[in-house]
Amino acid sequence: MSTKLYIDDALCNSCGLCLQECGHFGHYQNEKRIKPDNPECSMCYHCYTICPQNAVKLEGCPEVPAFSKELLENINQENLAVFLSYRRSIRNYTDKTLDDTIVKKLIENAKYIPSGGNAHSYEFTVIKSEESKKAIKNELYKIYKKRSSILNNVFLRNIVKPFVNKQMRAFLNDMEYREKIRKLIERLYHGEDPIFHNATVIILIHSKLSIPTPKEDCVLAGYNITLMAQALGLGSCYVTLAQNAINASSRCKKLLKLSPEDNINTVITLGYPAVQHRRIAPRRNKEINWL
Ligand SMILES: Cc1cc2nc3c(=O)[nH]c(=O)nc-3n(C[C@H](O)[C@H](O)[C@H](O)COP(=O)(O)O)c2cc1C
Repeated sequence: MSTKLYIDDALCNSCGLCLQECGHFGHYQNEKRIKPDNPECSMCYHCYTICPQNAVKLEGCPEVPAFSKELLENINQENLAVFLSYRRSIRNYTDKTLDDTIVKKLIENAKYIPSGGNAHSYEFTVIKSEESKKAIKNELYKIYKKRSSILNNVFLRNIVKPFVNKQMRAFLNDMEYREKIRKLIERLYHGEDPIFHNATVIILIHSKLSIPTPKEDCVLAGYNITLMAQALGLGSCYVTLAQNAINASSRCKKLLKLSPEDNINTVITLGYPAVQHRRIAPRRNKEINWL
């Protein structure tokens, strides 16, 4: 969405705060306020959200109540720290279906992440039907089976080595990875779901662009989803296992109605948790490199 800015002259007192806040401040020498039609505007709307006079307006946008400290009163730092530290990846879900309105609410909140260049180029695909989940799982089984046959054959390993990326090359010589994949396909063969954990809904976050920060944006959007899910009593889990395989498969992308240019950078499973975590996991203290 890009909404046109304009300035209400009757309200603006030229305090200059919109200029200070603008990412393109350097382009406004000798000005007292932003120029709404600046072609370099990245539509971050900092000028709009910061104006003390409510003089920066958005065309066609309804007035929203100004931010007040009371709005954040319940989210003090203790509450937030507890909320963040109790987050867990959930791999065990009940059969309860997830209403589309909840999924929409989660995605609606994803867009409040910071985004490189304010591009917000991430897009969402939601897999919710059993039919689609089954089709993707079947495809992933085939992909991992093929991968396993290469990993377990010295001749094939050496053939593919020059054609794969650095990460995949490291995997080719990694015995642990080979064993992990072997176990994965064994479980898939027996009808288990070690990839999506029988989740109710799977959200794929993808981007066509390679600039400026599509991967980071997708992961951040995903994290907003996991936090909002937690606030709604839902469980979630990031799933790289699916992401890498789908990106390498044109058949999978076709099944998902994605184009070859769509790069999946985040996969998240969602559902009502069938388990309850009761305490915070210990985490190693992080050394800080103070300078
Ligand atoms: C980028 C990313 C990828 C992940 N991929 C998987 C995955 O493929 N399968 C899975 O079961 N968990 C996956 N996880 C979840 C981690 O395994 C999990 O965060 C870790 O075990 C710690 O547990 P916690 O999230 O409950 O603190 C992933 C997490 C992240 C952040």
